[in-house]
Formats: sequence, structure tokens, C-alpha cells
Amino acid sequence: MGNPRDKEGKERVFSGIQPSGDMHLGNYLGAVKNWVTMASQYDCIYCVVDLHAITVYQDPKTLQDKSREAAALIMAAGIDPEKSTVFIQSHIHAHAELTWLLNCLAPIGWMQRMTQFKEKSEKQKENVSVGLFGYPVLMAADILLYDTDLVPVGEDQKQHLEFTRDLAQRFNSKYGATFIVPEPSIPTVGARIMGLENPERKMSKSEGGEGNTIYLLDPPDKIRKKIKRATTDSLRDILFDESRPGIYNLLILYELFTGDEREVIEARFKGKGYGDFKAELAEVVVEGLRPLQSRYKELTADPTYIDTLLSQGADRIRPVAERVLAKAKQRMGVG
Ligand code: TYM
Repeated sequence: MGNPRDKEGKERVFSGIQPSGDMHLGNYLGAVKNWVTMASQYDCIYCVVDLHAITVYQDPKTLQDKSREAAALIMAAGIDPEKSTVFIQSHIHAHAELTWLLNCLAPIGWMQRMTQFKEKSEKQKENVSVGLFGYPVLMAADILLYDTDLVPVGEDQKQHLEFTRDLAQRFNSKYGATFIVPEPSIPTVGARIMGLENPERKMSKSEGGEGNTIYLLDPPDKIRKKIKRATTDSLRDILFDESRPGIYNLLILYELFTGDEREVIEARFKGKGYGDFKAELAEVVVEGLRPLQSRYKELTADPTYIDTLLSQGADRIRPVAERVLAKAKQRMGVG
């Protein structure tokens, strides 16, 4: 299928993050760090997906604050809002409207195979909302609205990306070429950062105790304490060995923050104990997050500053969403 976007120059990148909790190292290393790298090469749009967050209950005031915080953290991580677009999903109505059009096309059978829905609904039982079931359709709408070529995400979003591609192809084959079929961009290292206390499960906003997750705004002493207490094993050697999930995950953190080769890292810690390694890792993480934390402080010193940038971001990109939505509606014979 030909590319329906009249492309001049750069390819388009779109990605999103939920403001439903505090941003953590998994979000940063699996996604946001790559958003920053891609920003110099592509036309990038990064979205704080508050409509996704409300698929489970959120305290309204906290949600507003967390949405602003997430946007500020994206910028503090190195996204320049003048060069890339950063906006809040609910500020552009087209997301909800395209979701409805796509809802009418998404087979229930596809939805029922979504593993994230199965996991989340297992925990909530009878409180599961229709919105949570439809979550992947809203995500597809986010991506398809902007003629997106590439979607940088962590590994846990891979199935949602496949769903988005399938849905775009289904639309295009029923109604004619309308949407670009996007490609996922998943990092080879860091796509699945694991919890510190439970390295068998991914680091997440909602799972595990406080010590399981390092948040981007954690003060240095908290980071040191969490790394010191991280689960390892009863062996000694500090090696990149996937069969030893605890130490392997910590080594991945070290690799991603230093950018050093694996052999160099292993040689550095040869003959040393876990205690020494953890102490050094803690400093690497603390120093790695320091610039982000200080930029965050500067950016949020005036609370209205981020709001202004966010409304400018939405204003700049809204016409793209409206054009794609209008095309989809016209193809379906509505509006
Ligand atoms: P969310 O908010 O759960 O996570 C944001 C990004 O962080 C990645 N991530 C991780 N990567 C590595 N290791 C981890 N432990 C880890 N935890 C999270 C996620 O893969 C994601 O890239 N549904 C999405 C948000 C979304 C979206 C979109 C993404 C909505 N619309 C359109 C891309 C395009 C989500 O819940 O991400």
C-alpha cells in the first residue's frame, strides 16, 4: 500500500505516556531516552495520554498535576518543545472522535487477545470499564491521527502496535488508503527494565512495593537505598547473564547510563563484590538523573510556563489531526 502522506523531508514519530503515576526508569530507558535521540532526526510528537489514564479511576486534581508533571519531565529529559511537539491528549478532540470511528471497525476478537487488558482486568474484576477494554483503539487513534511512521515504545507496547497496524490495514482495505501503517521502534537494550525487588516482573508505576521502582524525581539518597536493597542472587561474578535476572537488570541499568561496552563493564567489576557494584551503579544513576532533575526544577518554577507550552503544542499540531480525521470521516461517509 502506498504511503498516503505527501511526505516532504522528515519522517514522523509519535509516542505517548500515561500520567497515571510517577515516571520511572523503565519509562525513561525504554522510551523517553529514545524520544530524545530521535528528536534530532525526525519530526516528533510526544503526548501525555490523560484519556488513557482515566480508563481506571484517577483523582481529578492529581491527574491534572501529573499530566503537567509528565510533560515537564519529557522536556526536562531533553525534548525541546520548540522543535518537537509536546501536548496533552485531551486537548485535541480528534483523538476521541477517531476512536469512535475505529471502534466500529475493531473486531471484538482482536480486543480480547490483548494481554495488557487481560492482566489489568484480572486485578480489577467487576470494576473493569468499557474504556479499559477499548484502550488499544484509543492508542491506535493517537498514532494514526498524525500520519505516524515510527512509534518508539518499550516492549510491553508491542502488541498494541501490532493491533494498530492491523486496524490501519483493515481501514485502508475497506475504505481506501487513508492511514499510514506505522512501524514500532523498540530498543535492543532497555526495552524491558525489570523491578528492583522483583526482577522477574517489569518495573512499573503500579506494581510492587516502593523499593521496586526508581522514579525520575527520586532524591539521590532514595535512589542509593533502593539500589542497595535490590534483589540479586547468591552467586558472586558480575556478568551479563540473562539467567540471573537481578544482577542482569542492574548491569543493564549500568550499561545504559554509562554507554560502556559489556566486556568493559565486566572487566571493571571482575573480582569485586555486589556491594561495590551497587554503590557505583547508584552514583551512575544519581549523576545520570541530576541534569534532568535540575532542568525539571527550572521548568516548573513558574507553574503557568508548562501550561503555555502545552497549549502552543496542541495548537500547532491540531490541524494535522483534524485533516486526517476529516479524511477518515469522509471515507466512511459521515460528517
Ligand atoms: P506507559 O505510560 O505505560 O509507558 C510509557 C512508555 O514507557 C515504556 N515502559 C517501559 N519500557 C521499558 N521497561 C519498562 N519497565 C517499562 N515500563 C514502561 C512503555 O513501553 C511506553 O513506551 N499505552 C501506552 C501509552 C500510549 C502510547 C500511545 C504509546 C498511549 N497512546 C501511542 C505510543 C503511541 C502506555 O501505557 O505507556
